[in-house]
Amino acid sequence: MNAPRSWPEFQATLRVPLVLAPMAGGVGTPALAAAVSEGGGLGSLGAAYLTPTQIRETVAAVRARTDRPFAVNLFAPQPLPSVTPQAIAAACAELAPFHAALDLPAPTLPPQVHEDFGAQLHAVLSDPPAVFSFAFGRLPPGALSTLHAAGVLVVGTATSVAEAQLLAQDGVDAVTVQGGAAGGHRGGWQEDALAGTLTLTRQVAQATRLPVIAAGGLMTAGDVRAALQAGAALAACGTAFLLADEAGTPDAYRRALQSGERPTVLTRAYSGRTARGLRTTLTGSVHSPLPFPWQNALTRPLRAAGAQGGHADLLSLWAGEGYRQAQAASAAQIMANLTP
Ligand SMILES: Cc1cc2nc3c(=O)[nH]c(=O)nc-3n(C[C@H](O)[C@H](O)[C@H](O)COP(=O)(O)O)c2cc1C
Repeated sequence: MNAPRSWPEFQATLRVPLVLAPMAGGVGTPALAAAVSEGGGLGSLGAAYLTPTQIRETVAAVRARTDRPFAVNLFAPQPLPSVTPQAIAAACAELAPFHAALDLPAPTLPPQVHEDFGAQLHAVLSDPPAVFSFAFGRLPPGALSTLHAAGVLVVGTATSVAEAQLLAQDGVDAVTVQGGAAGGHRGGWQEDALAGTLTLTRQVAQATRLPVIAAGGLMTAGDVRAALQAGAALAACGTAFLLADEAGTPDAYRRALQSGERPTVLTRAYSGRTARGLRTTLTGSVHSPLPFPWQNALTRPLRAAGAQGGHADLLSLWAGEGYRQAQAASAAQIMANLTP
């Protein structure tokens, strides 16, 4: 398939108005992205935590399953915040009892706390996807024109009208607007009022000429229809796919979702950046996290041990406010349930 040159041309290649929200950290898989693309939606790969080599392998794994368009998602690079030795000591002290309980070595920061965005983008461009999406900010100078020159359509993430307007000025092809109900990290970079998804969709559609991808709390065909009626070009769903057969969601995470017992909370405990997920022992115990990406690197051994040992309370159980409506089924069935 030749690369579409404009968003309307691209969107005409989709059979259903659905985007699989990018989900980094193991929940999103090549099988899930490919299944959504094969079903006529836009599958996305959350590649932010992958090394350049892993990005190439993951993209190849999607290509092996589908020749339909898909998106690759990264985090826009931020200057690394400085952290004091005292702050590191305080953050480590909060995690130490959890490490001790699992006989893990005491918490320490690894030498590398995040991937190099330039190298990640280079890997994406080595086999360009139809769509590149990003969150947490604006792209560095030159990245957008490089992506466009490679025939890639570019989608930014906004949690407010002001952010959407800045992304429009930068020349993105579409914008994901993330309402406050969304699972996972807050995707913006300015003040975040946790706006309602439909309200923000309406406002951004009016204030910019960009196609809007509505995200946050869209769990049923009725929700998707409402988003389209509010002016969205497409609806993005993450939480609705957490229990998909093709998702990489660990069993303990699936059980916590299916029990429906935990409320969702906004927390910085796991990564240092505000994200919505199910309440855990860790969300209640961490009061002085380091800023992102330091805290993310610091909690990685604990999260890995949690996944291995089936301890849901150590995992970052990202989930949106609508999580109790998530269905355990194939991605194709979930898409059928979401299609208006
Ligand atoms: C497990 C999980 C991981 C996520 N990872 C990413 C990510 O890597 N990049 C990104 O832009 N958004 C990420 N998000 C946010 C989603 O893109 C999207 O905004 C959200 O899922 C939409 O709301 P919903 O969860 O209510 O469907 C993630 C969400 C979840 C649930």
